[in-house]
Amino acid sequence: MFKAKEVLLYVAIGLFLLIAVGFAVVEEPREAVVKEISPDPFELNKRLGRGVNLGNALDAPNEGEWGFTLQEEYFDLIKQAGFDSVRLPVRWSGHALKEKPYTIDPNFFNRVDWAINCALSRNLPVILDLHHYREMYDDPNSHKERYLALWKQIAPRYKDYPDILLFELFNEPDDALTPELWNEFMKEALAIVRQSNPHRTVVIGPGEDNTIPELKFLDIPKDDRSIIVTIHYYWPLEFTHQGAAWVTKADSNEWMGTKWSAAEAEKKAVVDNFNIAAAWAKENNRPMNLGEFGAYEKADMESRARWTKFIADTAVERGMSFHYWQFDSDFAVYDTKNKSWIKPLFDALLPPR
Ligand code: BGC
Repeated sequence: MFKAKEVLLYVAIGLFLLIAVGFAVVEEPREAVVKEISPDPFELNKRLGRGVNLGNALDAPNEGEWGFTLQEEYFDLIKQAGFDSVRLPVRWSGHALKEKPYTIDPNFFNRVDWAINCALSRNLPVILDLHHYREMYDDPNSHKERYLALWKQIAPRYKDYPDILLFELFNEPDDALTPELWNEFMKEALAIVRQSNPHRTVVIGPGEDNTIPELKFLDIPKDDRSIIVTIHYYWPLEFTHQGAAWVTKADSNEWMGTKWSAAEAEKKAVVDNFNIAAAWAKENNRPMNLGEFGAYEKADMESRARWTKFIADTAVERGMSFHYWQFDSDFAVYDTKNKSWIKPLFDALLPPR
């Protein structure tokens, strides 16, 4: 027979063991698993490093219509040159049924698979970006269901792809897709992505063309940490978009001849803007990506190179990854016809080796 004291001791030991085993079985592995499968977005952002946009190919109405068609060799060139990642802008909305169930054209999907695989097989992280859904600018509410239906198809298709594939929910919300409305749409799109990709890193930018002053209105779910926040930078627009026909808010021909000389006041304007972005990132504990920046080919090359280097360095100094706009075409860093890097821009983007 046990004495009362002994019984108490055994009960206490038993309870302790139960709790200890409980913690071991339930708590520790759960934490370990989460750590294993959710990549640290800050680490992933470091891996994005200095990247380039493969713009004007899959984001054109049809690939090739804007004079640029992706080739497998470009992925080798990008990797060998020392770029760390690519952003792949895709006009999904131009290749999906206009009516329910808004099915994405299977051939187009295969082409996007091919491009993603070209990057991943070379160990180049890819941001897969939903680009140029322009109808959303005029009438977002009528297009909301279709927009969400695109992510309902895209996200499950890539759910088993490696962590170095990232999804970007929407390029440059603008006009009637106001920052308030974008917050609403973004949360719904994110929830759809999370159903099939609970741990995928998602890239999200603020309203009004992903501009820095709009960061303060961006309302990302606080408990979702698998997010990188992106901004775009084309300031001063009079310099970067001189002669650009697609600028509608002004006559960009009047800006022709605008230079960027790296004068103290010009540099200060950039630094002030990036400091605002970096302060927001720190306060909100989010990694930050500069998803687009570049100066159109109509500006003079010396100014373009100066501006590009200053923006790239300012971003990197503040812990941001970047994607230059763009590899080939009208802001090109590579000349696909002459098969050569455009040296002043190339040197502005990558440190000397
Ligand atoms: C657009 C491009 C444009 C670039 C600079 C991008 O977001 O998709 O068509 O050339 O911004 O304006």
